[in-house]
Amino acid sequence: MTTTLMRLFRGERLKTPPIWLMRQAGRYLPEYRETRKEAGSFLDLCYNTDLATEVTLQPIRRFGFDASILFSDILVVPHAMGQKVWFEEGEGPRLEQIETAADLAARPLRFDLDRLAPVIRTVERLRRELPSETTLIGFCGAPWTVASYMIAGKGTPDQAPARLVAYRDPAFLQAVIDDLVEASIVYLKAQLAAGAEVVQIFESFASALPPHALERWSIEPIGRIARAVKAAYPEARVIVFARGASASLPAYVAGTGADAFGIDWGTDLAVARASLPASVLTQGNLDPLALVAGGKALEDGVERMMAVAREGRHILNLGHGILQQTPIAHVERLMQLVRREG
Ligand code: CP3
Repeated sequence: MTTTLMRLFRGERLKTPPIWLMRQAGRYLPEYRETRKEAGSFLDLCYNTDLATEVTLQPIRRFGFDASILFSDILVVPHAMGQKVWFEEGEGPRLEQIETAADLAARPLRFDLDRLAPVIRTVERLRRELPSETTLIGFCGAPWTVASYMIAGKGTPDQAPARLVAYRDPAFLQAVIDDLVEASIVYLKAQLAAGAEVVQIFESFASALPPHALERWSIEPIGRIARAVKAAYPEARVIVFARGASASLPAYVAGTGADAFGIDWGTDLAVARASLPASVLTQGNLDPLALVAGGKALEDGVERMMAVAREGRHILNLGHGILQQTPIAHVERLMQLVRREG
């Protein structure tokens, strides 16, 4: 049996549009918080096949989403390159900074897929344990977004340290980006070999690049990854989520060859959909705060998405990751609103 999302990708008309949520496994779920406690650190959870499988399945059991995204993090790639990565409780990711070519020469990075073997085993387990109609989505971060963490050593509002490096020493940034392209290709191909059908590339910090720099630092590297993955796995589908770059969506379509594009919550979905060819799907873009608020905000938001989804080329999702304070009852209500139409 083919999974729901793959049927949409192949152009089938579905009674109800498929839905999943970015960051659907996470701290808004009490069962996630339990498993997270058992695992110890966040990275321990990512590298524990049993527990990572469990937290990936939790939102599927509860809400019956059409797709399940592997539980891991975009920063396991620099970790598997040998960079120090850790998560500060209540704050977020921290990395030992690599700011100059001299830093890189002193501490060379080399991607070792073996370090991610537990993550690949999680993908294998998930494909066996998921319902047959649920699509399994693998993922990685886009090179620019991951590089911006490697350089800043953390998340900042606009990842200015990496943007400054792009101006001061583009050759150094290019070297980091090129290494990430190669690593991401190997990593995504391993996820597809293990049973993922779709991969999503998260460019969460497209918003931190001026438009003139998007082609070199975002679109071109993502395109290299997407083309390599699809050459090796012609049935695989690629979703690109470039947050904050909606004005450049047509350039992403032309330059990456991806099959679907995530639309962030700051973008008018109907306008974005109309600007893209029918050959690509769109995904998104409910404001995560509308899901926190519930009530009319949620109903109106769902209706705006449904108006576009009824044309048959859209995957329902949020316009960025689900927030920790999201009431579970509102996610249940979202599913009810979406599925009652069918
Ligand atoms: O979507 C899913 O359910 C799959 C798992 C997933 C996580 N992170 C789990 C996670 C995915 C796809 C990611 C991607 C990711 N990680 C991105 C791109 C998407 C985006 O949100 O823009 C980024 C930028 C990261 C880096 C990262 N990881 C940050 C900035 C943080 C801290 C933010 C926070 O909410 O604390 C993380 C930690 C993280 N990744 C958590 C989860 C569930 C929370 C960790 C915890 O349990 O304490």
